[in-house]
Order: sequence, then structure tokens, then C-alpha cells
Amino acid sequence: MFITDAIVENKTELENQIFLLKLYSPEISRNIKPGQFINIRASENNFPLLRRPFSVCDVEGDYFFVMFKIYGEGTLYISRKQNGEKINVLGPLGNGFNLNDNSKTALLVAGGMGSAPFSFLTKIFSDKKEIHTFIGGRSSHDVIQYGLKNIYISTDDGSLGFKGNVIELLKNKINNFDKSELKIFACGPTPMLKALKEFALNEKIECEVSTECGMACGFGICQGCPIQSANDENKFLLVCKDGPVFNVKDIII
Ligand SMILES: Cc1cc2nc3c(=O)[nH]c(=O)nc-3n(C[C@H](O)[C@H](O)[C@H](O)COP(=O)(O)OP(=O)(O)OC[C@H]3O[C@@H](n4cnc5c(N)ncnc54)[C@H](O)[C@@H]3O)c2cc1C
Ligand code: FES
Repeated sequence: MFITDAIVENKTELENQIFLLKLYSPEISRNIKPGQFINIRASENNFPLLRRPFSVCDVEGDYFFVMFKIYGEGTLYISRKQNGEKINVLGPLGNGFNLNDNSKTALLVAGGMGSAPFSFLTKIFSDKKEIHTFIGGRSSHDVIQYGLKNIYISTDDGSLGFKGNVIELLKNKINNFDKSELKIFACGPTPMLKALKEFALNEKIECEVSTECGMACGFGICQGCPIQSANDENKFLLVCKDGPVFNVKDIII
């Protein structure tokens, strides 16, 4: 784990209030895996005090990318960074996706900004397996396709692709695939992951999910990010340290 100043190489506004930052940091770029995250210091004067967690969206040599949406003060602060400025980063943190499973086809399922970790995962899986990506958003403005392959889109308002949610879309398309060869990798809001868990268990499809929750330290000290274990009702796992990626069978969503 490193604490380092990453340098902004480039900033792109992909959609209104959704940004892609290209950051120079050999320490992070050479050591991070898809599904792991970094904690960014999101203030000049330590207010807001806590760092903000972000998935690493992609890696190119000594550069890594972060894709984020402005929600509050922290993300607004990060969005104002200019080329050449420094951003203090802590990472790599957490456990990412399992990159060594035997599935032949990966279905990547994303809700909104949940597509952030999938460019990097797509790159790593590209020469190993077939990849299909399902993305859902409230409207076309929430559907970010950066670095993704074979994309199926849903929007709640029907402004792009299938009208409905991404799990409904997945259910409609699942018979196009050989289920015995599939594995699902998902990232998105908790209600989406909950519906996906039920679907994956019913269909007997292996599934890993990247969970999201408010975090303080980001590396297992503050105990501020518990998630209940599905294997022992008295046991809580930590999203930041044991996750954020879990086999869906191992957690209560
Ligand atoms: C492991 C992990 C990885 C993450 N990766 C990404 C990523 O790659 N890209 C990305 O955009 N975000 C990601 N997030 C979410 C991101 O950390 C938050 O959006 C960010 O912390 C918000 O900080 P803020 O100071 O701007 O907002 P705050 O001041 O903390 O919040 C402002 C308001 O927005 C709401 N809010 C905050 N975050 C979210 C959210 N994610 N969804 C809906 N409402 C929210 C709050 O409840 C509050 O009402 C990730 C979170 C985790 C735990
Ligand atoms: S955020 Fe502190 S233990 Fe997870």
C-alpha cells in the first residue's frame, strides 16, 4: 500500500458532471488489479476530513484512470483539479475480482457509475474469455461506455436501449448464452446487486459483486464498513478489507 501524489495528466468530462482523470503514478499503476480501489484526499485543508474511495477504471503503463460523478464536496473538489496538479492517493486497497476462474464467458453487469471498474477488467480478460457488458442507467446520460465491449444498454426512462432495469435486460438475454460457461461480474447500487444475487443463485451462475458503502479509513482499522456474512450470521466482513468484491454467496445483500 502506497501513499503518493499522483499527477493529473488529463481530465475529460465524459458527460455532464461525470469525469475521467488520467493520473501518473507508477506505484499505483503497476500494483493495482481490477476491482481494487484507491482512497483520494478530497480537500486542501482536511475538510471534508475523510478520503473518498474510487475504483481504478483503467491502467496504461505508469498511468491509471479514475471515472467519477460529482455527488458532493469531495467529488466537486477532485473535478476541479487541473493538468499538472497533484492528487494525494492511498492504495491499492481491498480485494479485486478473481482473474483466474475457468469461465469461458464473462458477463459484466453495471448500474450507473458501477461501470467504472470494468474497462480495466475488460482489458485483462480480453485475451482470456468472451466478454459481454450490460449497463443500466436512469437515462442515457448515466450510461458510460468507456473501454467496454459487446454492450447491452437499459435505461429507466427508455432514452437509450431497453426500457427498464439492467437485471430485467439480463433476464431477457440470458438464454442467448450457455449458462455452464458463464460467470457474472457486477458493480452497482445495492438494490441492483440484491436482485442480481437472487437471479444468479436461481440460475446457478457463478457471480462476484463489487459492493459499495460509506468508508472512513479504507483499510480495516475503523470497522466502519461492515457487511454481514452469509456463512455465519454472527460474523461481519469489512467491505474495504475483505471486499469490495465478494462471491455473491458469501454475503447478505
Ligand atoms: C469501493 C468503492 C469504490 C467506488 N468507486 C467509485 C467510482 O469509481 N466512481 C464513482 O463515481 N464513485 C465511486 N464510489 C463512490 C464514491 O466514493 C462517492 O461518490 C464519493 O465518496 C462521494 O463523495 P462526495 O464528497 O462527493 O459526496 P458526499 O458529500 O459524501 O455525499 C453527497 C451526497 O451524495 C450522496 N452520495 C454520495 N456518494 C453516492 C453514490 N455513490 N451514489 C449515490 N449517492 C451518493 C450522499 O449520500 C450525500 O447525500 C466508490 C465507492 C466505494 C466504496
Ligand atoms: S473503512 Fe475503515 S474498516 Fe473499512
